Amino acid sequence: MTRVTFLQNGVAKPYDVNLDDMPYQRHGRRGSLLDVALNVGFPLEHACGGNAACTTCHVIVREGMDHLSELDDEEADRLDGAWGVTPRSRLACQAIVKGDVTCEIP
Ligand code: FES
Repeated sequence: MTRVTFLQNGVAKPYDVNLDDMPYQRHGRRGSLLDVALNVGFPLEHACGGNAACTTCHVIVREGMDHLSELDDEEADRLDGAWGVTPRSRLACQAIVKGDVTCEIP
C-alpha cells in the first residue's frame, strides 16, 4: 500500500491506496496524484480534465518528492503561470505516484 496525504486548510487527509490495483479515472495521467484523488474521493480541482492545460490541480509537495515521476518540460512551462508556484510545486494531473507522498493544496 502507498500512503498519499492531501493537506488542505491545515487538515491532513491520508489515504492508503494500492497503486497496482487502482482503476484509471480517465483524468490526467494514469496513477497520477489526480488519479489517486479521484479514486479516493478527494475533491481536487482539475478544470482542463487533466491535460496540463490549466493550473487548477497545482499542489505543493511537502514530503516524497522523490516518489513522483520527473517534472517534464510541458508541466514546467504550465507551472510557470501558476499562482503561488514554489520549487516544490507540481501539477497533480502529471505527477505519477511511485511511493508515499504528502502534498498541500495551495
Ligand atoms: Fe489542468 Fe492539471 S487539471 S493542469
